[in-house]
Amino acid sequence: MSPSNPPTALSARDIRKSYGEKEILRGISVDVRKGEHIAIIGPSGSGKSTFIRCLNALEVPDAGTIDLQGERVFDAERRVPVASVRALRKRVGMVFQSFNLFATHTALENVSLAQRRVLGRDRASAAQRSAELLERVGLAEHMHKRPNQLSGGQQQRVAIARSLALDPEVILFDEPTSAIDPEMRVEVLKVMKELAEGGMTMLMVTHEIQFAQEAADRVMFIADGAVLGLGTPDEILVEPEHERIRRFVNALSGVM
Ligand SMILES: Nc1ncnc2c1ncn2[C@@H]1O[C@H](COP(=O)(O)OP(=O)(O)OP(=O)(O)O)[C@@H](O)[C@H]1O
Ligand SMILES: [Mg+2]
Repeated sequence: MSPSNPPTALSARDIRKSYGEKEILRGISVDVRKGEHIAIIGPSGSGKSTFIRCLNALEVPDAGTIDLQGERVFDAERRVPVASVRALRKRVGMVFQSFNLFATHTALENVSLAQRRVLGRDRASAAQRSAELLERVGLAEHMHKRPNQLSGGQQQRVAIARSLALDPEVILFDEPTSAIDPEMRVEVLKVMKELAEGGMTMLMVTHEIQFAQEAADRVMFIADGAVLGLGTPDEILVEPEHERIRRFVNALSGVM
C-alpha cells in the first residue's frame, strides 16, 4: 500500500444480520482503503462468511450501510433498488471456497460467460480478455479444459480469473484454499499475492495465517458476530492483546 492516504474503496457501517431469533452479525464496521488487503479470521460460525456475503448483496443486512468509493450502495433503512444490487455485485467480486464453475463449460467459457451477461461484451472480446486473464493466473495451457479436467487449485484460479474479468473495485475471498489439496494451495496463494501486489483491494477470509501475515495490510478478527480485533498482522497474529485471539492464533498455528 502506498504511504500516502488512499481513498476509501469500501466502507461498511454497523452491519447487522439475524437468522430467525439468532443475531449472527452484531454491528460490524470496516473501512477498506483502495489497494488495501484485509484478512478476516475467526472461529467457525462467527459470521465471517455472512459478513462478506453482505458486502456483495448475497445476503441482505437487517441494518447498516455500505459505500463504495464514497457512494452509498446499500442502506438498510431504505428500499434498495434492484439496479443498485446489480451494480454492487458487479463492482464487488467474490471468490468462493467451492469454485462454482460450470461443469459443462471450458475454463475459457467459464471466464467469458459473466463478461457477456453482466458487461455485455461480445464473444470475441470476452474470449480475448479471458485468455489474457487465464494466462495471468498461469493457466495458458489449460484454458480449453473443463473443470473435471483441472485440479482444485487450477479450478480456483479459473474462478479468480472469472472474478477479475468483471473489473471489480474490490474482491472478496471466502476461504479460497480450504477445499484444495495442500500442495495445490501454493499456486492459488501465489496468484492472490500477485493480485495484492498489483494493487487490488481485497478482503480475504482465510485460515492461512502465514499468508495473512505476508499479504495482508490489516487483519480483522471476528468472534460471535463482532469485531474483536482489527490491526496490523503483527498486532493481531503475533502479539494479540486479546486472550480470545491469542488462543485462536495459537490453535491455528499448532495445527497448520
Ligand atoms: N442461511 C442461513 N440460515 C440460518 N443460519 C445461517 C445461515 N447462514 C449462516 N447461518 C448461521 O450463521 C452463523 C455464522 O455463519 P457463517 O457461515 O457466517 O460463519 P463463518 O464464520 O463463515 O464460519 P466458518 O469458519 O465455519 O466458515 C452460523 O451459526 C451459521 O449456522
Ligand atoms: Mg465461512
